[in-house]
Amino acid sequence: MFEERGKIRFNRRLTRDTWLMGLASPIIAKAASPGQFVMIRVSEGAHPLLRRPFSVAGVERNVVLLLYRVVGQGTAMMTEAREGGVMSVLGPLGKGFELPPVKSVPLLVAGGMGVAPLCFLAQGLKKRRVEFLMGFATAGDIPVLDHLKGPQTRVSLATDDGSRGHAGFVTDLLERYLHGRGPGRNALSLFACGPRLMLVKVAHLALKHGLHCQVSLEASMACGLGACQGCAVKASKTGGRPYYHVCADGPVFEAGQIDWDVFQGA
Ligand SMILES: Cc1cc2nc3c(=O)[nH]c(=O)nc-3n(C[C@H](O)[C@H](O)[C@H](O)COP(=O)(O)OP(=O)(O)OC[C@H]3O[C@@H](n4cnc5c(N)ncnc54)[C@H](O)[C@@H]3O)c2cc1C
Ligand code: FES
Repeated sequence: MFEERGKIRFNRRLTRDTWLMGLASPIIAKAASPGQFVMIRVSEGAHPLLRRPFSVAGVERNVVLLLYRVVGQGTAMMTEAREGGVMSVLGPLGKGFELPPVKSVPLLVAGGMGVAPLCFLAQGLKKRRVEFLMGFATAGDIPVLDHLKGPQTRVSLATDDGSRGHAGFVTDLLERYLHGRGPGRNALSLFACGPRLMLVKVAHLALKHGLHCQVSLEASMACGLGACQGCAVKASKTGGRPYYHVCADGPVFEAGQIDWDVFQGA
């Protein structure tokens, strides 16, 4: 883990409330792997006190890319950052994705800002055929992220209101994909990040179809380092221990490690 003063290379609005920030952070850019995250100090002053966690959405040479949605004070302050400014970045943190076996087809399932870590994964799998299922609330929320995907990445879209792609949830696309897959086809490796209920559904589908599935979880984080206990999630019976810290044990877990009933109700 490193702390760098990242120089802001760009901070672009992509949709109504989604922005892409590029931070020149050579050491973290070199060390980061897909699924890992960084903690950002959004202001030079003491307020807000806590850093905010963001997945690494991609790396371009020495620049770390952050795809973020404005939800509160910290992310609103980030939109005011200008090219040439600096932000303190701590990372890369946490455990990222294990890369899929060579003979399997990576199937990526993202809801909303869950696209961020999966774009970095797709970037890392550039030479492979990748199926990327993405779900958003409406067409206007879909950020254009073409440069973050490989040439063989096939994207399928769903929107809740039907304004683009399938009308419904991204998990409908996943069900359809799994249903349409005949026997004897290549093995699938499932990767998912998104809202809680989406992850629960993906985990259940993975179990039903006997698929290997890695999920990237979000939780409230104060320290990001495993010290404050703030990001605990309940482990499944086979998890080997009662709780995990999302920041230090994750944010990427095998779906079988998590108690999804407790996760769903939390
Ligand atoms: C490992 C990890 C990776 C993350 N990666 C990303 C990422 O790549 N892109 C991204 O946009 N966000 C990501 N997040 C979420 C991001 O950290 C929060 O959105 C951010 O900290 C909010 O800060 P804030 O000060 O703007 O909002 P706060 O003032 O902290 O919260 C404002 C309100 O928004 C709610 N809120 C907080 N987080 C979210 C959320 N994720 N969605 C909806 N409402 C929320 C709070 O409950 C509160 O009501 C990640 C979180 C984790 C734990
Ligand atoms: S955020 Fe402090 S233990 Fe995870």
